[in-house]
Amino acid sequence: MENMKRTHTCGELRKCDDKKTVILNGWIHRIREHGGISFINLRDRYGITQVVIDSSSPAQLADLAHDLHMEYCIAVEGTVRARPDNMVNKDMLTGEIELLATKIEILSKSETLPFMIDEVQKDGTPVIPNEDLRLKYRYLDLRSSSMQNHLALRHKVALATRNYLSDNGFYELETPTFIKSTPEGARDYLVPSRLYPGKFYALPQSPQLYKQILMVSGFDKYFQIARCYRDEDARGDRQPEFTQIDMEMSFVDRDDVLGMTEGLMHYIFEKTMEIKLPEHFQRIAYDDSIDLYGTDKPDLRFDLKMQDAEFMADISDFKAFRAALEPQEKKPGQTRNTGTIKALVVPGQAENYSRKKVEDLEATAKIYKAHGLAWMKVTADGLTGGISKFFADKKDEICSKLGAKEGDLLLFVADTNYKTACTALGAVRTRLGKDLNLIDQNSFVFAWIVDFPMFEWNEDENKWDTAHHMFTMPQEKYHSTLESDPGSVKGDLYDLVLNGYELASGSIRIHDPELQERIFNIVGFSREEAEQKFGFLLKAFKFGAPPHGGIALGLDRLVMLMCHETSIKEVIAFPKNTFAVSPMDECPSVVDAQQIKDLHLKIIEQTDSK
Ligand code: AMO
Repeated sequence: MENMKRTHTCGELRKCDDKKTVILNGWIHRIREHGGISFINLRDRYGITQVVIDSSSPAQLADLAHDLHMEYCIAVEGTVRARPDNMVNKDMLTGEIELLATKIEILSKSETLPFMIDEVQKDGTPVIPNEDLRLKYRYLDLRSSSMQNHLALRHKVALATRNYLSDNGFYELETPTFIKSTPEGARDYLVPSRLYPGKFYALPQSPQLYKQILMVSGFDKYFQIARCYRDEDARGDRQPEFTQIDMEMSFVDRDDVLGMTEGLMHYIFEKTMEIKLPEHFQRIAYDDSIDLYGTDKPDLRFDLKMQDAEFMADISDFKAFRAALEPQEKKPGQTRNTGTIKALVVPGQAENYSRKKVEDLEATAKIYKAHGLAWMKVTADGLTGGISKFFADKKDEICSKLGAKEGDLLLFVADTNYKTACTALGAVRTRLGKDLNLIDQNSFVFAWIVDFPMFEWNEDENKWDTAHHMFTMPQEKYHSTLESDPGSVKGDLYDLVLNGYELASGSIRIHDPELQERIFNIVGFSREEAEQKFGFLLKAFKFGAPPHGGIALGLDRLVMLMCHETSIKEVIAFPKNTFAVSPMDECPSVVDAQQIKDLHLKIIEQTDSK
């Protein structure tokens, strides 16, 4: 293509370029013939330009046009021609002009496509090929306008991150991807060592320990756009391999980390989408979040809050409600000795919800272990439907206590387990947000969830676990009661939530080896085990570790939400499918017997049919 190198991109030419001789390189997006004239939509990542071959073009071009097909990569030389006003295509950036071809060179042919790029139905809705096909031919899928836009935004977000943090004094430092296997929550991906038979490197679940060690080394503001690896089931917002914007800072408290993260979000949204976020995000205590929304990642784009309806056990004999409030023996980790009754008042929906539709909502509550979803309607004739017969003459009291009015639908979950009642009705709340179109899809609503419990009771092993990682600082006011009442200890721990997703998580860390040892003791981590697993960190902390804290944001989740997508695969160039497989390169794959031997490994054949 010596003389056919592009002079312009396919998104560049305008009316002011009229009569210029130019060369474009790109892919044939569409080709059609109309009355002896061929129209080629030539595409590159900058846009699409219409190329025309008509009777004024050299004769051989008309012949060549018959040999051109979709996704051929070609070079076109031609003359820019301004379109008459009535022919201007306002939907195209280059719609004011077309390129009258004088020379075409095929740079590379394409086989028949497994799917068309950017195919749309007659009504304009996009045709989305089957996911495995998209992933198998990812190079074609990535040519689609949506993937091009998503990856462009991803680039801009990464660049804005680097600019903002660098301007605020952070260093971007890399940490290793072959590390010591340390417990971090998920299962590790392991890399066998050839030189040391029976020993393994682990791929990092996050750079957590290394970034803390960088603090010990005096790099008081660190960040990294870090690859993380977790062998856990993939789902919409999870991949086995993903990217974090990882940060750590020394001599800070919680507000410093939250403030820096807010500033970063502000900058990213302004620079990449021209969206001005509020300066500060609201903060919700974990306990309140569970109580009001039934989740620690509430979608705050709509304001439907759960309410306490425990008074209803006192005003009727309805058994399920009474049973929920029977006092029980308090188990470790429980802050109360009864269950609860939670209510949702759904304004104006009494008419719209048939018994069948409520049963459908009940199915959602049951997924979260509720025994059922009780309901009734507020009508001019009193309370009707569902459990109304137990509350026949209580309309006024119930309405005044719950702030309900005629036309509203009332939904309840009662459970002997407080958290189950909250979680199950919270799931119904989330579902109603979608079903009733309560969500402004263009809004971005952030919130901090703070004051998380420090410890969680592990029912299976009958012991306490840390809720986040073991280096999280318990809030100072609980330091004297750590051992005597672990269940009530709050950690200096925070999550950033966006539109119902956990976007980031972080904490102030323990830098005092004695306090660290107390935490290890509470979760039953022996000194030997701690020494063996993270002795190197504990040792480092003996050499003047500064107070420090940090956070990590899921870059994939952030870009996914900015693109209004629900799967992070839509913003990752080469993701794995739901089965942790990459259909394009068929990874994971079998390796040579010699490679296995070099690694001193033996494969045990599976005996079952899987
Ligand atoms: P955490 O494990 O909460 O914290 O992860 C931080 C953020 O990373 C994103 N994330 C994921 N994204 C895609 N696929 C996954 N499998 C996945 N897992 C997590 C989420 C999450 O909020 N070291 C701590 C951070 C710290 O304390 O500084 C950590 O990794 O957006």
